Amino acid sequence: MTTPRQRNRARLLGAGSLVAATLAVALAVPAQAAGSTLQAAAAGSGRYFGTAIAGSRLNDGTYSGIANREFNMITAENEMKADATEPNQNQFNFSSGDQILNWATSNGKKVRGHALAWYSQQPGWMQNMSGSALRSAMLNHVTQVATHYKGKIYAWDVVNEAFADGSSGARRDSNLQRTGNDWIEAAFKAARAADPNAKLCYNDYNTDKWTDAKTQAVYNMVKDFKSRGVPIDCVGFQAHFNSQSPVPSNYDTTLRNFANLGVDVQITELDIEGSGSNQAQQFQGVVQACLSVARCTGITVWGVRDSDSWRASGTPLLFDSSGNKKAAYTSVLNALNAGGTTSTPDPTSTSPNPTGTATPTPTPTTTTPPSGNPSCTATYSEGEKWSDRFNGTVTIRANTNISSWTSYVTVNYPQRIIATWNGSPTWPSSNVMVMKPNGNGALSAGQTVSFGFTVMHGGNWTWPGVTCTAS
Ligand code: G3I
Repeated sequence: MTTPRQRNRARLLGAGSLVAATLAVALAVPAQAAGSTLQAAAAGSGRYFGTAIAGSRLNDGTYSGIANREFNMITAENEMKADATEPNQNQFNFSSGDQILNWATSNGKKVRGHALAWYSQQPGWMQNMSGSALRSAMLNHVTQVATHYKGKIYAWDVVNEAFADGSSGARRDSNLQRTGNDWIEAAFKAARAADPNAKLCYNDYNTDKWTDAKTQAVYNMVKDFKSRGVPIDCVGFQAHFNSQSPVPSNYDTTLRNFANLGVDVQITELDIEGSGSNQAQQFQGVVQACLSVARCTGITVWGVRDSDSWRASGTPLLFDSSGNKKAAYTSVLNALNAGGTTSTPDPTSTSPNPTGTATPTPTPTTTTPPSGNPSCTATYSEGEKWSDRFNGTVTIRANTNISSWTSYVTVNYPQRIIATWNGSPTWPSSNVMVMKPNGNGALSAGQTVSFGFTVMHGGNWTWPGVTCTAS
């Protein structure tokens, strides 16, 4: 272990080498080509990166230009909801929804369908219904809309926001809920029958913190559905964050525990109010949480520019109102390029193992080795946590035969690294550690090696960014 004192001494002794180390960082060429857009960077680990689109904005060239360049999964912000698609009972209008679907597919993008059954944005006629008539009308709506879009939707939010906020863990009271507690599974069965190839998701907000009653209630419903064979494939976490509803420190725990039930998980409506580096760090934390869970298959932000947001005054998105990239954009892009588990969205056998804490197991990637240039992948995994500090492990995987590697670990203010093990660190700046192997660092393709460190977090639990280069 390298102690803080040794580290300080190394800093003093290494004053001359500091310049060299800085140069090394500046000149380092990533061994794997980094994605220069959000969709390309996410694709590096097999994930998508999406946005919500408002059809009325598509003729704004700045808007559609950014959307086309950066995103490869599209959600209609309002146009596939019940008030849009069935304005009068049994009279369907798909023109606005089709406009978005056609724009997406003609630009090579996939579409998340949003949303089939929801207590809100019901057309007036549905709001006034109850009992068995409403149940039949809801199931007819699910069937007709899913049939119209059959084969064209990656995943449907079949049921949206069906649980109450607060500590009750109860279902949300609504006209749909009053038709009987089984309305959710009835909706999922109708959706499966109409479009067997779409993934079927339950989608909600305030389900991010693992210990919250609402999170537990949704978890128990999904567990019950899986045990009884009710068709459910995924859980969407809307992820609308602000100071009243912050990003939880152990978001990965929630995502992982749901995934362990045998469903995909997706961040479906991400926005975080704020600005500057604070906002950027929070976005980074959400991306890292998703990347750490193999069945977290993608992230969608809820709009393109701040001015397009339903919370425009909170400037919660990745592009400012002029379409410029914000600090949050850069942190998301870098976090995506730093990689994580390779997404494995197809159903696999599962062994539910929910715990209250993150499982600090390394998450080696299975990225296909590119032939030719020496290449490695660095993956961060959580270790022990204490009130003032946490441990982290970086696993270096050789994608080709390599003769050595260098890893870059970037911590987020006010974090600082106080100890390291299994490597030789240098410190080109206060928040960057350059780690080289003890020994020559030669690895054969597929081999891994790990080093670790302790971070004093100062209240900032954001994961450090990790990358590596190989020679
Ligand atoms: O299009 C009309 C316009 O013609 C009219 O002049 C104007 C007057 O109010 O309203 C416009 O419609 C608004 C619509 O957004 C389009 O801008 C509606 O009033 C407004 O209620 C609607 O808000 C949407 C909201 O859902 C409704 O619940 C937001 O755009 C949309 O971002 C938001 O999305 C939801 C997700 O579906 C579910 N999760 C939460 C998320 C944020 O609330």
